[in-house]
Amino acid sequence: MDWGMANRLSKLIKPDGHCFYMAMDHGYIMGPTHGLEKPSKALVPVAKYVDAIFATRGVLRAAIDPTTEVGKILRVSGGATMAGATLSNEDWVISIDDIIRMNVESVGLSVFIGTEHEHQTLLALTRLVNECEAYGIPVMAVTAVGREMDQKKEVRYLSLACRICAEMGVRVVKTYYCDGFEKIVNGCPVPVVIAGGPKTDNIVEVFQFVYDGLQKGAIGVNLGRNIWQDECPAGVARALQAIIHEKATPKQANDLYLELKDKKG
Ligand code: 5RP
Repeated sequence: MDWGMANRLSKLIKPDGHCFYMAMDHGYIMGPTHGLEKPSKALVPVAKYVDAIFATRGVLRAAIDPTTEVGKILRVSGGATMAGATLSNEDWVISIDDIIRMNVESVGLSVFIGTEHEHQTLLALTRLVNECEAYGIPVMAVTAVGREMDQKKEVRYLSLACRICAEMGVRVVKTYYCDGFEKIVNGCPVPVVIAGGPKTDNIVEVFQFVYDGLQKGAIGVNLGRNIWQDECPAGVARALQAIIHEKATPKQANDLYLELKDKKG
């Protein structure tokens, strides 16, 4: 492996083999999402706990301090929004020149397997892998389901989607946690990261599924709303860091969360 690729991967996947990414790319389809209206404010309380953030070039340039020590995964797909007819009509939208200029550790692109835009998004992924591999930049595939396919967050579909992304040459795949998650990991020759979802009623549910996912072979998470929409984002981030990097149980993680939440008053 080239030194540049090894260097970037070392910032994405820590020496213990695990990773904690915070997603803050939601504005590219959802506009000013609750909790993420000011992305710089969302990052401040959690920056010391997360390994990397997942964000668009617009948010990085406008709202993130370029001296930050936090790793950067650049969202490079786009072209559809919540206001439009379908979320799956995406393509690769950031030039390789700008990816290099942004000096990010990785890039992420969504594929919509099984939708009318399967072919378009898979070809975008392969073109992206071709260009990024040439410069030592690891690609993370996002197995997106859009609105129409939300019921597809199940093991048979997600195993197929993850394996296809790995076959296309990505270095990491991001997918949803589901029953039988170990089958996804077992059928995917590259590391799998767990995506999040809408805010849950009880944060312990999040600690539990992240813990379970790690037991079943995920290397880490890429979570957004359950962190920055919580009343104590620092507490959630500290708790997730403990599960991911310190082998904490959901109960131990919740104790850490409550400790920070109480301090916040
Ligand atoms: C949005 C994404 C997000 O990065 C991903 O869904 C994780 O965020 P959340 O935990 O809020 O679902 O890909 O397009």
